[in-house]
Amino acid sequence: MTTTNAGIPAESDENSLTVGPDGPILLQDHYLIEKMAQFNRERVPERVVHAKGSGAYGHFTVTNDVSQFTKADLFQPGRTTQMLARFSTVAGEMGSPDTWRDPRGFALKFYTEHGNYDLVGNNTPVFFVRDTIKFQDFIRSQKRHPRTGLRSHDMQWDFWTLSPESAHQVTWLMGDRGIPKTYRHMNGYGSHTYMWINGGGEKFWVKYHFKTDQGIDFLTQDEADELAGTDADKHRRDLYESIEAGNPPSWTLKVQIMPFADAPDYRFNPFDLTKVWPHSDYPLIEVGRMVLDENPEDYFVHIEQAAFEPSNLVPGIGPSPDKMLLGRLFSYPDTHRYRIGPNYAQLPPNRPHVPVHSYAKDGPMRYEPARVGAVYAPNSYGGPAADPSAYPPPSWETEGELVREAYTKHREDDDWGQPGTMVREVLDDAARERLVANVAGHLADGVSPPVLQRAFEYWRNVDKRLGERIEAKFNGAA
Ligand code: NDP
Ligand code: HEM
Repeated sequence: MTTTNAGIPAESDENSLTVGPDGPILLQDHYLIEKMAQFNRERVPERVVHAKGSGAYGHFTVTNDVSQFTKADLFQPGRTTQMLARFSTVAGEMGSPDTWRDPRGFALKFYTEHGNYDLVGNNTPVFFVRDTIKFQDFIRSQKRHPRTGLRSHDMQWDFWTLSPESAHQVTWLMGDRGIPKTYRHMNGYGSHTYMWINGGGEKFWVKYHFKTDQGIDFLTQDEADELAGTDADKHRRDLYESIEAGNPPSWTLKVQIMPFADAPDYRFNPFDLTKVWPHSDYPLIEVGRMVLDENPEDYFVHIEQAAFEPSNLVPGIGPSPDKMLLGRLFSYPDTHRYRIGPNYAQLPPNRPHVPVHSYAKDGPMRYEPARVGAVYAPNSYGGPAADPSAYPPPSWETEGELVREAYTKHREDDDWGQPGTMVREVLDDAARERLVANVAGHLADGVSPPVLQRAFEYWRNVDKRLGERIEAKFNGAA
């Protein structure tokens, strides 16, 4: 039986209360008013980035003993941890096509014995900028132009060519992996360097790589363009249908571990988000396997209201001096308070699977009573007390004047080296050819002459021959 939101039997699903069958509707039709009012409030603001996303629940199982590197509960031998994943595009709006060329978000929430651990990564190991202060400008250049309301390749290349640190990520984006075939056919990366701490208090630097067990696969630009028109929800549909069909996707987690003391003298700044650690320097070590096998019961409740935050770090895991990561620790909880409301942590996808003993109270939409014997600390009425000795904070030594300066350069730090290596040593001829065509095609769409000249130079800096080929292709000479 249909009821009102208060559980009172509703009299009709189809007819409003009127004065006679042809008369006016009445304000006292509470059920009608409730339906209209609820409808008017159905939307929360979409995420300012990563608005279009798809997700599922699953579990992560440890397959290799890495306890010598971290005491984090979820990475201990034999452990299986329930989790939630949300994959997304970055620049498009909530209804935008899944197959636009863009990095893909790879956001994970693990419901561990020590509370929620969120690893909010992408399907790329690097990023476009290396200082949080440039993130907002970068995103504006990728979104819609304020006057035309259109996305603008001129803005994109203007920003990229004035920000040479973007070259590694842009090379990656314009290559095959810039449009994965489905969410199941892409890797995920923590991207940032994080800290791991073992049971003896020893610290390590770590990078996460989730390798797809489905195999890497991609769409060509033409295939993606066609799908954008014929099946804008291609990737959401694929994830949902694979799980429904009993074919749950999985990823194998591998990590690179750097001894804590290596960082100052490593050839690249190990905290610079525009760089990878070559595998020959720090090989991949297997940790476990993540399987996504449960579709959400309600997309809005579980995926739209999911709130991932890089600041959710559990004992045994900490941040690093990466200036992007440190900015993100603030940004996410802040945007959740705005987007969903201050009590977002109580909602089903965000609720930890362990009891919460925080002193938070009240605020809009709070429904869990404060679980403490008193609402302040310290108190003498049995409220919880923090125990700093149980979890020494992850820390590193730092000193210096307050400055606004770029990272100190390490021996081989420059913006062009690693993308050049990718072009010359990782891509084969066919992949290089597609990269040339993708860039030339992108540049042909409304990029103004001065920006265009900078773009050709940008690619010559990545690789001289590649830059020449892009310019020739653009001019129709190749
Ligand atoms: P390796 O040969 O050990 O690794 C190359 C990596 O490139 C592999 O992880 C591979 O992923 C990945 N790859 C293959 N094709 C593409 C593509 N079209 N787009 C993006 N990545 C691709 O070399 P190094 O570790 O010395 O790194 C060399 C270069 O490879 C780097 O400068 C970087 O540009 C790129 N790279 C490096 C990664 C790292 O963490 N070291 C990760 C990803 C890229 P897979 O094994 O899944 O095929
Ligand atoms: C989403 C900020 C860099 C991955 C978001 C959101 C904000 C944001 C405000 C919207 C969150 C929401 O409304 O729920 C920032 C800032 C960055 C930054 C300030 C740089 C300083 C990055 C990087 C990565 C990343 C480097 C990946 C390595 C994601 C993902 C999401 C997201 C995956 C979507 C999460 C979800 O599925 O809900 N970011 N971001 N971001 N960001 Fe970032």
